[in-house]
Amino acid sequence: MSKRTLAVIELGRGREAAFKELADSGEFTILVVTRMALPEALAQYVDHVLTVETNDVDATITALRSYSASDRIDGALTLLEWYVPVVEAVRESLGLPGNGVAAAQRCRDKKIMRDTLRDDGIPVPRYRRIVDFADALGAAKAVGGFPCVVKPTDGTGSTNVVLVSTPAELRTAVERIGLATQNTRGQQLSRAAMIEQFVDGPEFAVDSLSIDGVHRTIAIQEYTMSPLPHFAETGFVTPPSLDPPGRAAVVDLAMRALDALGIVSGPSHCEIKWGAEGAVVIEAAARYGGAYIPEVIVHAAFITTWRVPGSLAEWASYLSRRSVPPELFSMSMPTRTGRSSRLAALRKPGPNPAASPSMSTMQGGT
Ligand SMILES: Nc1ncnc2c1ncn2[C@@H]1O[C@H](COP(=O)(O)OP(=O)(O)OP(=O)(O)O)[C@@H](O)[C@H]1O
Ligand SMILES: [Mg+2]
Repeated sequence: MSKRTLAVIELGRGREAAFKELADSGEFTILVVTRMALPEALAQYVDHVLTVETNDVDATITALRSYSASDRIDGALTLLEWYVPVVEAVRESLGLPGNGVAAAQRCRDKKIMRDTLRDDGIPVPRYRRIVDFADALGAAKAVGGFPCVVKPTDGTGSTNVVLVSTPAELRTAVERIGLATQNTRGQQLSRAAMIEQFVDGPEFAVDSLSIDGVHRTIAIQEYTMSPLPHFAETGFVTPPSLDPPGRAAVVDLAMRALDALGIVSGPSHCEIKWGAEGAVVIEAAARYGGAYIPEVIVHAAFITTWRVPGSLAEWASYLSRRSVPPELFSMSMPTRTGRSSRLAALRKPGPNPAASPSMSTMQGGT
């Protein structure tokens, strides 16, 4: 069987395992599309490099269209949050499977994400979007007062996400977001801020794989966090300290978030906090978890490669229009599709303090 060409948009640290898995599967010709130089460590896994300004969506599409005139491209993916909108634009333009540009926008703009989830009846923290400090005090009051969370509408890696307890701290946080014009990849930032109700409680990440709108959860992890007022993830613990009904409720909430946001194709990473009023969605990303989350999943499953059920290579096979292996959806992890009415379960069961993390922890940053 001839290999299928996968366009992998952009490079980031800690992603060698993904390239290795794709290369080891023997199924793909790997075309890296990047504005940077290919790191030496990746050269062994990569067949072609297309150098293009990937922050320019039109230029990226033009370059890939021109490439595909002579060599077919079967699928496009990215492992990085910043390039989720770019990859969806490429997919739409080349007629490749994906979630669509609108879903990417729902995932990348935290205000649109909150609106979408709230409109679908999914619990989220109270929130307001502001563009300058003049509106900040009113927004803080509207979400329940101090302390409250301030974060950029379009950030990642918890950059400039902070808990504020006074008007002065609120001003500093909002102004800091207003000053950040570009992210680390040189992309323009909105400079607008979200002011949110502070949900105090444990945080869980649900990593899943979706194919044609059917979601399959690969892992649930619990975060360990830096001391407040910052929110840096310092580790991932699996299994999480949840009793079985709590676990089911967290997974169910994540699946509902994926449905609402229109994540129908590929990996996703959903963050959920369990506060005094129950579980709420912090966000869902249309990509694999960052930092070393895929490796933690693998360690926890006592598997020695990325080839966990629902792995990158399996998904990439689907993505590049090969039939889905039936066993992908017949494993024992929770699988569901469509909408659920299990909201009531969210209030009762909860984090299980007696459960102790026993399998795997790993430090990491995004
Ligand atoms: N309303 C909130 N209440 C309590 N904690 C929150 C709230 N919003 C965000 N956090 C904390 O801050 C972290 C980062 O926030 P968020 O995920 O929205 O930003 P991010 O920049 O996308 O971060 P990352 O890329 O690390 O996931 C969350 O994982 C959570 O721990
Ligand atoms: Mg997050």
